[in-house]
Amino acid sequence: MTRKKVSIIGAGNVGATCAHWILQKELADIVLLDIVEGLAAGKALDLYEASPIQRADVRLIGTTDYAQTAQSDIVIITSGLARKPGMSRDDLLKANAQIVTDVTKNVVKHSPNAFLIIVSNPLDAMTQVAADVSQFPKNRVMGMAGILDTARYRSFIAEALGVSVADIQALLLGGHGDDMVPLPRYTTVAGIPITELLDQPTIDAIIDRARKGGIEIVNLLKTGSAYYAPSAAAAEMAEAILKDKRRILPCCAYCDKEYNAGGCFVGVPVILGANGVEKVIQLQLNPDEQKLITESINHVKQLTTQLKTLNP
Ligand code: NAI
Ligand code: 2OP
Repeated sequence: MTRKKVSIIGAGNVGATCAHWILQKELADIVLLDIVEGLAAGKALDLYEASPIQRADVRLIGTTDYAQTAQSDIVIITSGLARKPGMSRDDLLKANAQIVTDVTKNVVKHSPNAFLIIVSNPLDAMTQVAADVSQFPKNRVMGMAGILDTARYRSFIAEALGVSVADIQALLLGGHGDDMVPLPRYTTVAGIPITELLDQPTIDAIIDRARKGGIEIVNLLKTGSAYYAPSAAAAEMAEAILKDKRRILPCCAYCDKEYNAGGCFVGVPVILGANGVEKVIQLQLNPDEQKLITESINHVKQLTTQLKTLNP
């Protein structure tokens, strides 16, 4: 059987660590690409040399040449600037839009049938850029953020309750990070509603910490942003597609009538399988929740409008 192929653009913290998870899970052959000469090749070689220890039969190469990414099944785009203390994700808008545009053009040339998983920030706007540039069907373009935000939320809940992270089921909607829409009524611990186990102030404090989870790490690292959890989240999306798992995961996906989004990319629960975004799941939101997601959608739209004025 021919192995599947995943290319990861950007061999920085998120990209290289994503390659690590994919190798460890033995999901596919991997091409790591970066604009910096030698960076992707060096990291790929180092990681490949770990494969006998991991007992993972995966071919791994690092390159600056897009021809090597040809006929990828999935391309994960992590290239771009990361935040430093004092910066918001939106501060990355102009520079990363240019990078994501250039990268997407090259990716499309060599892998016209690939699924695109965008990681670069500001996430929802960058996913829109990749969709516009690639002109791929909307089921083949998606962004990673919701799994990360939910994983932060789930890990803080597990910590507060002193229970296994495996037993926490949770859902969040909306844009990445500060814009996310918490849904405590869809949060359960082994089927028990979270509201029966934690008081409201504790739940509110956990939501607030998860919302600010990105900046908490930026402030600790000082030289970059989070990458272990983000890369694990991107690898989980790749796994769902490659293995046709039909996982229900919060991803940045195209919504039109759904959530009254009116044609934009935003974080929503989707079924992720062999056709990429198989379906956006529409939840029956209460007015407060709908108000929050509408604010989140408006923020994404503001960013994409800002981009159009920067690059008319
Ligand atoms: P990093 O700085 O470690 O790596 C970025 C890499 O992209 C660098 O190696 C750089 O050389 C490369 N690059 C820049 N321009 C390129 C181009 N035109 N072609 C190919 N490669 C290029 O940054 P890190 O930590 O890996 O983060 C990457 C991006 O992902 C950032 O924009 C960051 O904000 C975002 N991010 C998003 C998350 C999410 O939840 N969606 C979570 C974590 C990071
Ligand atoms: C995060 O939330 C940087 O967006 C990234 O960690």
